[in-house]
Formats: sequence, structure tokens, C-alpha cells
Amino acid sequence: MSQLSVSQSTFRVIDLIRKKRDGGALSATEIEYLIEGCTKDGGSIPDYQMAAWLMAVVLRGMTRGETAALTQAMLHSGEVLDLSFLPAKKVDKHSTGGVGDKTSLVLAPLVAAGGLFVPMISGRGLGHTGGTLDKLESIPGFRVGLTVPEFHRVLKACGCCMIGQTEKVAPADRKLYALRDVTGTVESPYLICASIMSKKLAEGTDALVLDVKTGSGAFMKKEEDAVFLAELMVETGERMGKQMVALITDMNQPLGCMVGNALEVRECIDVLHGGGPEDLRDLCHDLAAWMFFLGGASKTVADGKRLSEQIIASGQAFERFRHMVELQGGDISVIDDPTRLPSADHRVDVPSPQAGYVTSILCEQVGTACVILGGGRERKEDSVDPAVGIVVYKKTGDKVSVGEPLCTIHCHSDAQAARAKTLLEESYQIAAAPPAHKSSLVHRVIYKGEH
Ligand code: URA
Repeated sequence: MSQLSVSQSTFRVIDLIRKKRDGGALSATEIEYLIEGCTKDGGSIPDYQMAAWLMAVVLRGMTRGETAALTQAMLHSGEVLDLSFLPAKKVDKHSTGGVGDKTSLVLAPLVAAGGLFVPMISGRGLGHTGGTLDKLESIPGFRVGLTVPEFHRVLKACGCCMIGQTEKVAPADRKLYALRDVTGTVESPYLICASIMSKKLAEGTDALVLDVKTGSGAFMKKEEDAVFLAELMVETGERMGKQMVALITDMNQPLGCMVGNALEVRECIDVLHGGGPEDLRDLCHDLAAWMFFLGGASKTVADGKRLSEQIIASGQAFERFRHMVELQGGDISVIDDPTRLPSADHRVDVPSPQAGYVTSILCEQVGTACVILGGGRERKEDSVDPAVGIVVYKKTGDKVSVGEPLCTIHCHSDAQAARAKTLLEESYQIAAAPPAHKSSLVHRVIYKGEH
């Protein structure tokens, strides 16, 4: 019996839209037909039909099988990297985005120094959250736009490489994301899962650790939404034969103390030297432990954590970072002396209006304050200022006296800082008594096996 290819199939797009509108489940072939039709040869399916189908998905949802089929179809709309020539397991980490969320810069060299390969394709800042590529580009000369052969060479030479999405990776996601952005169809866990996983699976990794953020600085403010998305992504990755885990982690306040591109690189260098703030250090060790465990470099997650601590203490993680920066064209003199990173000479303190304890921080506003300073983008075409940012001194549960700085804005003038200062003042809640409950950094772990 002859088989029809997807493009020869005789589906009518309107029937597929109606099927989803009425709550039906599409077959893998039907989903492939839609994705091929909107991506290949300029797209034979018009945007208005794809937008109608996307809205039907937002309203009706998808089964796990449909989500996996959509992820597969989007993944295979472009190039899937073949890293089978590398002599050890490939592992990566993906974060759903937060404020001061800078663990990638520590994890890639740390896990590479432990004998695994970390092929990391990262993104830029999105909304109020920072992006790994913007942080890396604050290192003068650092190139995130490597070709695939260059990516291979760096990976082989130092075990890790951090680049941006190439034109050829998951083009269906680029097309659909742009459409979702303007049709009110971003907010669907099924579409978010397929979008993230299609890009991450194109890297050719064997295992993926997901850091799914929840809280006031995350996209998923409610924990149940974060858990739902995490479970969906874990199951989707497992269906494709990948080792998967998701950590649901706290984003009710900035991670670490630095928010802003060059400031965050500086804080990561501190962590790579064994210092830095405790919450950032702890989360890096927790995530690295899972990367080591899933990649087979440790027998248990607890062993993975010990390995992570040893590698940092030995200086090997820092050396690996320095090597990666050098191979990607970055100026290593700023890695050796981080005071040479771009910096803004003007400082504006945000003093506490009263004595007491910090009971909560509206973390999204801290991220927005950094964007307003120029540390992120208000429009897609904006460039970012690597030097600006916020140094956070007081976090939830900390005692403060009246007039004591809660944080300091790094900027170029008082006028530039004015809007950001108001947002930061509003974001701190201070009361006479300490908060009754301090949330833990890792809220829960979604993993099916023994660890
Ligand atoms: N990040 C992505 O890459 N895709 C989404 O849909 C949402 C966040």
C-alpha cells in the first residue's frame, strides 16, 4: 500500500480548525500537516487559519499525545543538531525565566568540568526577565552567533558552548511565536511546552533539567500553573527518549543580589570562585546535581551535589568558564578582573521608608525597573545597556532600619533612575514583624524514578 506524505494528504484546514474548536484531538499526521503547511515554502496555510487553530488550542487544550506530536513537528521543521560524535552524555538546563536568574553561566562550565557536554542554545530577555545571551554579550568580544561547525569545535575543546538560536533551528516556532504574540495565544501551556521543547530538543541533548520558576517574578505566578507546565514538558521530553526532570523553584524575589547584564556576569564569576550569594550558589549546586545525575556522572543526586561543590572549590569550573569565553572571542582580561566589565558610574540608593522587616518583594517590578534603565528591551529592536542594573541588599525576612538602602540603582544619571526608583520603592513591602513563612528555594521536584 502506498503511503501519502504529509504534504500530499487531503486534509482541509477548516476541518482541522473545527475539530479542535469542538474539543476533538488531532492525529499526529493532522498536526504535521498544519505545521508543514504554515512553515514550508513560505507557508501555504494563511496566518488567519493558523491563528484560528491556535485560539482553538488555547480554549480547548490538547492531549499529551497531541502536545508531543506538535513538539515533534515543530522540532523537525528545522535542523536537529547531531552531537553523537561527542564522547560523553550531553545535558542542558532550561529556565522559564526570572529576575537575576543567571545560573546558566555557572552551570555550563561547572557541568562540563565534571566530564559531561553542555550544548546550550539560549535566548534573550523576554518581558521583565533577563536573557543569557544579553548577559554574555556584556563580556567585550563574546560571540553568541557561532556557526554550527564553530559550535562543535568549542564544545569539543572545552565541553560547553553557549550560543543563540540559529535561523535553522525550529523555524515553525519562530513563525508561530510571532503569530501568538499578536493574537492573544501565548498563554497556553501546550503551546508554551511545544515552543520551548522544540528548541531545546534541537540541541541534540540526551538529558534536560528544567528550572520552572513560580512566584511574583515568574511568568507562572501560581504554583499549580508552573507544576502543570513542568509535568507537560517532562512527559513530552520523555516521550522523545530524553532523560527529564523539572525543579519548581522560587521567584518571589530576585535570585542573588545582582540584576542587570554585566552585574550578573560579575556575580557568576564570584560563584565560580566559590563565593557569591547563598541562594544563587545553592540553586546552582541543586541544578548541577541533577545534570550530573541525569548525565550519569553521579550515582545519586546527593553525590552530584558533592561533585558540584568539589568542582567549584577546585577552581576547575572557573577555568572552564574562562576557556569558553576565550574560545568564543571574549576578552578574558575582564574575567580575570571583573571590575573591567562595563559599569555605570552613577549610583542612586533606594532607602527604606520605615524600620522593620522585608515581608515581600514584587519581583516582576524589580525586573521591569531594570528594563526601564535600559538593561532589557521595551521594543524588539532596542539594544541593551550592559552596564546598568540594580544591586539588591535586602531580601525577604531581612531587618531594615529607616533610611537604610534596600537596593542601589547603577545608572548614568538621577533623571534616568527616577522611574526605576519609584518602581523599586513600591516593590518592597515592609512591616513591623518578620514574615511568618519564608519559602524554600526548590518548591518541588518532578521526576518519576529513584534519585
Ligand atoms: N518561551 C518560549 O520559548 N516560548 C513560549 O511560548 C513561551 C516562553
